[in-house]
Amino acid sequence: MRTKLVAGNWKMNGSLASIRELIKGIQAGMGSVGSAGVIVCPPAIYIAEVSKLVEGSNISVGSQNIGDQDSGAYTGEISGAMLKEYGCEYAIVGHSERRSIYGETDEMVANRYAAARRNGLKPILCVGELLEEREQGITEEVVGRQIDAVISLEGVESLADAVIAYEPVWAIGTGKTASPEQAQDVHKFIRDKIAALNADVAANLVIQYGGSVKGSNAQELFGMPDIDGGLIGGAALQADDFLAICQAAG
Ligand code: PGA
Repeated sequence: MRTKLVAGNWKMNGSLASIRELIKGIQAGMGSVGSAGVIVCPPAIYIAEVSKLVEGSNISVGSQNIGDQDSGAYTGEISGAMLKEYGCEYAIVGHSERRSIYGETDEMVANRYAAARRNGLKPILCVGELLEEREQGITEEVVGRQIDAVISLEGVESLADAVIAYEPVWAIGTGKTASPEQAQDVHKFIRDKIAALNADVAANLVIQYGGSVKGSNAQELFGMPDIDGGLIGGAALQADDFLAICQAAG
């Protein structure tokens, strides 16, 4: 049985003071979250602090990206071992902002996914189509290609220790959420695609939805059969908003 999983992607927001407040607020409401798993993904420089603050609670920590190499002359990158040392259990890879603003290709994302696994971190693989790709009717082709890059490098069995986040790029930070049916269609496509290779892996795979999830639409989205929680941006920056989403998942 899959349990619902909600991850807050804080992106490049906050300060030491504000993240302390945010964690305090989330912790205060964790009692009402039920069975949902809760992850926070702070900016890298705050991971150590957040890991300390959540110690002993049910909140897990993830990174927003991960270096594709394990050590050496890779200025600006952070290795999986470093993230692990500071308490990360998860690593987001292939977020659309990394793909579109920083030029990460499917191949680069697959290498980061591999680095996460090699270092005992669970990758949260983000996939999703641009608005023009949806309008051209090639959503499945794009999402399929993004997933294939990872499967061809690491194998379908690697998804047993991973999470996929379907995030239509046109819904991220725009206030435009995919309808529950639109999201469900793509989630089902993803699960069916993986089931064709390995039914067990597909049945147990957590597939999150991301893109303007809020307390007001979370329940409807998470009620769809193949939507197993969410990857939350804007609404993860306020404890009450984030907790409302976690409660909808729980
Ligand atoms: P959003 O971001 O919730 O602000 O749309 C989601 C994401 O980028 O993961």
